[in-house]
Formats: sequence, structure tokens, C-alpha cells
Amino acid sequence: QPIQLKDYTPPAFLIDKVDLTFDLDEDHSRVSSRLVLHRNPDHPDARAPLTLDGKELTLESVKLDGEILDGSRYQTDAESLTIAAMPDNAILEIVTVIHPETNTSLNGLYRSGGNFYTQCEAEGFRKITYYLDRPDVMARFTTTIVADKNKWPVLLSNGNRVGEGTLDRNRHWVKWVDPFKKPAYLFALVGGKLSRLADRYTTSSGREVALEIWVEPADLDKCDHAMASLKKSMLWDEQRFGLEYDLDTYMIVAVGDFNMGAMENKGLNIFNTKYVLARSDTATDVDFDGIEAVIAHEYFHNWTGNRVTCRDWFQLSLKEGLTVFRDQEFSADMGSAPVQRIEAVRTLRTHQFAEDAGPMAHPIRPESYIEINNFYTVTVYEKGAEVVRMYQTLLGRDGFRRGMDLYFKRHDGQAVTCDDFRAAMADANDYDLNQFARWYSQAGTPTLSVRGQYDAAAASYTLTVSQTCPATPGQGEKLPMHIPLALGLLGPDGADLPLQLAGEQEALAGTRVLSVQEASQSFTFINVPVAPVPSLLRNFSAPVKLDFPYSRAQLALQMAHDSDAFCRWEAGQTMMLQDLQTLIEAARAGGELGLKDDFVSAMRQVLADDALDPALVALMLTLPAETYLADQQSEIDPDAIRAAREAMKLGLARALRSEFKAVYSRLQDQGAYRFDAQSVARRSLKNVALSYLAELDEPAMLELAEQQFARADNMTDSQAALTGLVNWAEGDAALAGFAAKWAEEALVMDKWFTLQAISRRLGTVAKVKALMQHPAFALTNPNKVRALVGAFLHSNLAGFHAADGSGYEFAADTILAVDKLNPQMAARLAGCFNRWKKLEPGRRAGMRSALERVAAHAGLSRDVYEIVSKNLQ
Ligand code: ARG
Ligand code: ZN
Repeated sequence: QPIQLKDYTPPAFLIDKVDLTFDLDEDHSRVSSRLVLHRNPDHPDARAPLTLDGKELTLESVKLDGEILDGSRYQTDAESLTIAAMPDNAILEIVTVIHPETNTSLNGLYRSGGNFYTQCEAEGFRKITYYLDRPDVMARFTTTIVADKNKWPVLLSNGNRVGEGTLDRNRHWVKWVDPFKKPAYLFALVGGKLSRLADRYTTSSGREVALEIWVEPADLDKCDHAMASLKKSMLWDEQRFGLEYDLDTYMIVAVGDFNMGAMENKGLNIFNTKYVLARSDTATDVDFDGIEAVIAHEYFHNWTGNRVTCRDWFQLSLKEGLTVFRDQEFSADMGSAPVQRIEAVRTLRTHQFAEDAGPMAHPIRPESYIEINNFYTVTVYEKGAEVVRMYQTLLGRDGFRRGMDLYFKRHDGQAVTCDDFRAAMADANDYDLNQFARWYSQAGTPTLSVRGQYDAAAASYTLTVSQTCPATPGQGEKLPMHIPLALGLLGPDGADLPLQLAGEQEALAGTRVLSVQEASQSFTFINVPVAPVPSLLRNFSAPVKLDFPYSRAQLALQMAHDSDAFCRWEAGQTMMLQDLQTLIEAARAGGELGLKDDFVSAMRQVLADDALDPALVALMLTLPAETYLADQQSEIDPDAIRAAREAMKLGLARALRSEFKAVYSRLQDQGAYRFDAQSVARRSLKNVALSYLAELDEPAMLELAEQQFARADNMTDSQAALTGLVNWAEGDAALAGFAAKWAEEALVMDKWFTLQAISRRLGTVAKVKALMQHPAFALTNPNKVRALVGAFLHSNLAGFHAADGSGYEFAADTILAVDKLNPQMAARLAGCFNRWKKLEPGRRAGMRSALERVAAHAGLSRDVYEIVSKNLQ
């Protein structure tokens, strides 16, 4: 049943042109398609039949070269239509009827709030009409949309609008032509009552582009940030990569019901409202940053994804890893590069390292899948971006740019593989990237063990570097990877020492990148005057776990002085993790949960360092997620993890109370709210300070939060205050007031659901079930399901893993209920079981039986089946 990368064969036919006509209506819609096809000379069988993909379609008619085919001339089954006797060149006309109005999968053509929207990646187009629904079939599309003028006044599709008119029965039509060849997954259609924010952009070569953001009329006042982000993205891609936009119009449509973040359909992006709509009183600084990044991501896909696309879905990281890397570089240039980098590393470690260590582990180019939608993963996206970053680290920025230029020169207009990308990088730089290919085929997170040896007599310092990679499902043995190891050596004052490898003529200051390629190898630095502290894996130069036996004093030195912001943060995290581990063990043994003095004073020093970016200080004071701590355990005890984390937070709050109070008052916003890097950084540290102070069970501290909640003129401060309050009884009134104020704002209500789902006081199975009955909740809306159920299952470790197993029963019930509506969404929820084998025995048994119950359910989707069956293997 799984689809295998090694089975790839080219399509038997290619499609040159496709003309689509959509007749949209309330209780059904009709799709007429006219395909101009020809036999693919690259296919091994010159008489192969034509097999088109199609799912949940009602077929009305098939015409081949003008002649209606009767049922004997073609065959259909649940997923395809086959015509055995096909001429080498043909025109095929197919009419199908579909039901967007009952399509709750949000895949294909569906309704939301009365309007029509599409989502075709990866395989949604086959739910619209019979087609060669695979990315290596690229065709020119024209689309005519017919619909009632009053109900659906705005009708959009890819490319340029070339005509419109009115028909009888109060209907109208609009015709679109997309001049670029594209795979079906980039097709889009939108119809409905929408309002537009319009703007313009002139590209560096002088092309005038109309920019349009289409939203529900009530949301028109929340589009300015998205528009500004779009213009910044367009300029950045010209400056950094020489890439310009290529159509006359760039449209973004926001929809409240959407499975993912957004979709890069050619000329007509469709976005989750979460990544478009923002006003300072409804969206937090984190939301603003997310919008900027996702707008950029989808825009950047126009070149990395659309102009050059993927040969098959195993190559997904070709466009996603590369485009995430590009959006990360953009965000780094827009704000603080170190803060951006540390946040990316936190995401990778918390989510991707977990995936790499669990039953769904796969390389960034998977070798097989049951349901491709399950492979839009943190591994393909975020680890994929790290792999792209490593090219740049090895080749340098200019070398990377040369590789990109060659990639577009060779492959514009083509559907290609990750190997083609790697070849462009290698050839443009005359650099051997053969071993580097293992990053695409080996799953699992490598560990880099480094040991240092100082030879005082020779004034030399030798680093011995060895690498290992754990076994993952289906992959027992791993070969050494090509790993860029960026490093510096710190002197006793914490300053960088000049670096000179044995055999080199001169020393160079700053960071250098070693190319680690063997299972074990050593590097000797000469003219090292004192025993140094190595500053390793600077800027997180590879997606690996680092193992170096740092002393506490060395960590403290790095925390205070390392010139690399990532390593500075990392030293703090290492110390924090060591102490959290001690606390977890103490909690399991029922012992005292006190903090170590050197840790407290290192944190005090961080908090007192005025020279540090407040955003960096905030990150240094942020504790790792409960789930990340869970992943460090050989056997997970959720209650001990919660107790340890709370103890550290409370211990720091008590020890540093006056420092936190001082920071909190020093960083109050002066004047009205502003969204700029400095204000965002100040708010982030101020609110971290508040989160510590709110741990102290004291009326005066809760009053601080209550005051901030009452006075806040922006959602960042308002949400932060509410977060501090919800763990206490005082939060009830605030929560009620919040819900009353924001009842009409779906995205704000999502925050309200999440806060309660992850609160240590409210986040229980019973409370979550009760909230599912709230009028603002809907099981059909992915944002709501993620905000309440997803947050509880994935982010509330002690709540989900309630000792009585109620969390597991709830998860199984909800996964089955959602699976009937939206399999993609259900499969995401099912990921909550991925750690089950590491739980303590009682919970392990509970999780196993819940998993078995889901697996045994009749009519399970392919999506959920894949996740639960891999868990049970
Ligand atoms: N290509 C989109 C993006 O990353 C995501 C589409 C995901 N779709 C899906 N069915 N999983 O921007
Ligand atoms: Zn993407």
C-alpha cells in the first residue's frame, strides 16, 4: 500500500493545455474540463493507457476528440478513470459534478462562510475533476467561473483576468488565463462576497504589479501589516536573490477554515486568516511576526516551488526546506538575526528532534508514504531548511547565491529533484557534495561528541570530533554525514582567540567552519596561548545534538561573554537543562526541589546586563517546553516534569523578585503602542518578567497582571497578563471579560481557548470537553480544533497524561470524530501518541489501548491509519 520513491516513473501522457469552466451553486457545482494531451516520449510503454486521478466525483460525460464515449470505452474506480485505447495526441472533455457545500475535508473545492475556496496541494485537484494530478505534469490553465452575481460577486483564479460578462438567471462569469505552465496543485479558485485592500509595487526592472488582499468585509481594517510584509518580501527577494515577480497581479485571499498556514497558488495565494489579519488590539507581536514570515514564505514560493517545482512529492523539501530557509533569512534581515535564529532552533529541537526520535521518523526526502499529507512535517520543512542552510555555511553566502543562480538557469519551468538542487550547488562552486547527499536519505538526529585536549608545552589545542546517528524505523545503520561545525575558542576573559589550524600560515580572528566528514576525526589548533573554552556549533551550524563536557564555570563564562549569541543562549539552556534534570529526578524521588546558586547568579547576571538585547534576555529566561523535557527522559513521568519546571520558575521568581520587578517597571511602553523591533523586544522581556512575578502567590503581584490586563491597548500585553492570571482563581473574571469583549473575533477567541487548554489550573480533560460545547467552538474549524484540542493534547503534558487515562480516551474519541469530517486534521491530532513507548508503564498501557481502539475503527482514513499503524509497529 505505501507509495515508494524508488517506483517513480514518468507520466504516460503530458497535458499542454487545460480549460476549466466552473458552474458554482448552492447544492452542487459542475466542472467542465478540456484537456489537450500528448503521449510522453519519455514513458517506457508507447501504448500505455491514460489513467487520470479522480476522487469523490460524479462523472457526467467523457468526450474524446469530439466524440462522446460510452461506458465501454473507459473504466472508473474510486480513485481513477482509465482510457485504454488512446491516440498519441488527443483532446479530452470531461464533465463532473462535485459538492463543495458538504466538503468538510477542506481539500479540493469547499465552502466557508458561504464563499468558495480551493486547496489543491498535494492531491486536492483530483477532487475537482479527473486529471493527471502529479507535479511533473505542468500545463497552461484557463479558468472560467460562472456563479450568481449577488451571492458570489467576486470570482478569482490564477493569472490575469481576461474577460467577464453577465448571463441569464442573474448569473455572471469571469475568465482567467495563467500564462505560466503549472502543476495542478497550484490551481486556485475563490468565489464570494469579499472586500479588497489594494496597493501597487514596481519591480526592479519596472514591472507594475497590482497587489490585492481579499478578506471578509469586517476584516478589511486588519490587512495593513500583511500588505506591508508583502512589499518588503518582494523587495528583499530582488535584493538578495535577484528574483522578481512575474505576473501583473498578486492576490492573497484569507479564509477562516483552512487546514494549514497558507498556500502558494500561482498569483492567487490562499491563506489561513491567522496569517493575514492583524490589528494591534487583536494580534500579538508573535502573530505579527508570523504573518510577516508566512506572507514572505508564500511569496518566495513563486520562484522556489512554482517556477521550479517538484518532480514528485518525495521531493517536497526541495521547495519547502528551501523556502523556509529563505523566509528565515528574510525575517533575520527584518528584525534581530540572533533572536530569529534562536527561535528557529527552539522549534527544531522541540518538534523536529521529537519527530526524528519517534515512530514517524523520516529523512527530509522520505522513501515511502501512505498519505502524502502526513509528510508536511517539521522534518521536511524545518530540518529541510537546516540542510539548505548548511550549503550556505559550507559554500559561503556568495557561493550559495551562485548555486541558486545556476539552479534557476538550469531548471526554470521544470519539475526537478533534490539531487538537481544539490548538483547546482556543487557545480556552481566546484565543491564535492556527494557525501552531503546523506542528509536527504538518513533520518534521525546525529550526535556530535567533541572532546578538547590542551597541550601547554606545544601551545596547541586538539578537538576530537566524532559523530553517531541513532537507528530509526527501517534504518538500522547510518553512515557519517558531512557536517559543518562552526566554532571559536574563548580565552579566560571570554574573548575570541585567533584561530590557526596546524599547517596554516596565519591565524584568523572570529568564527571558522570545520568540515566534519569522518566517524571520528581531530583538528589541531596551534599558537593557542592558554587552555581555551571552545564555543561550538556557533549559530547552530548543523541540526545535530552536541555533546561536550562543559564545566559549570565554562558555561557561565559563555553565558556572559560568548561573541556568538546562539552559543550564549545555548550555554544558559545547557545549565538550565542540567538543573531541570536534577529537579525531575528529585521530584520522582519525592525530594527537595531547590535551585543551585551558580545557576541563580548566572541568571541574575543575564537580567542585569543592560548591553544585551532585551529579546535575547527574554529568550535566555524562557524555560524549555514540558514536551522537550519529556524527550530528554528515558522514561517519562509527566507529573515530575511539571513539578520540576514549576519549581524552577517559582525558585527563580523568588530569588530574583526585585530584579524582575525592576525590569518590569523599566520596560513599560512609553506612549502609544508601536510595532517595531525595539518595542517588540521590550515587551517580550517585560512580559517574561511578569510571567515570573505572577508565579509568586501574592496579591500584589497578581494586581500587576490585573492592572496590565485592564489597561493594555494591545493584544500582546493583554494576552500576557491573562496568561499570568489563568493559573489562579483571579483569572476567572478576566477570562469572562475577555470572551465577552472578543466574541466576534474568531482569531482572538482561539487565544482564549488555548490559554485554558494549557493552563495548569483549567487545562483538564473535563474543562476541555466543556469548552468544546462553547458557542464559539466548532469541530469543523481547524483553527478552533488546534487552539483547544491540539493545544491540550500537544502542549499540556501533565493534563493530557492525566494518571487516570482520561486524556487518552478523550484523544481517541476526538480523533475519530474529527476523522469523519477532516482526515488531515485528525491525523495531526493523532500525533499526540507519538511518545507513547516512553511513558511510565501505567500510562503506556493506557495509550496503547487508546491507539488500538482507533486502529480498529472501521472506515478510518488513510491519514489517521498511517499515524496509528506506525505507532503500533
Ligand atoms: N505549500 C504550502 C506551504 O508550505 C503548504 C500546503 C500544505 N498542504 C497540505 N495539504 N498539507 O506554504
Ligand atoms: Zn511552503
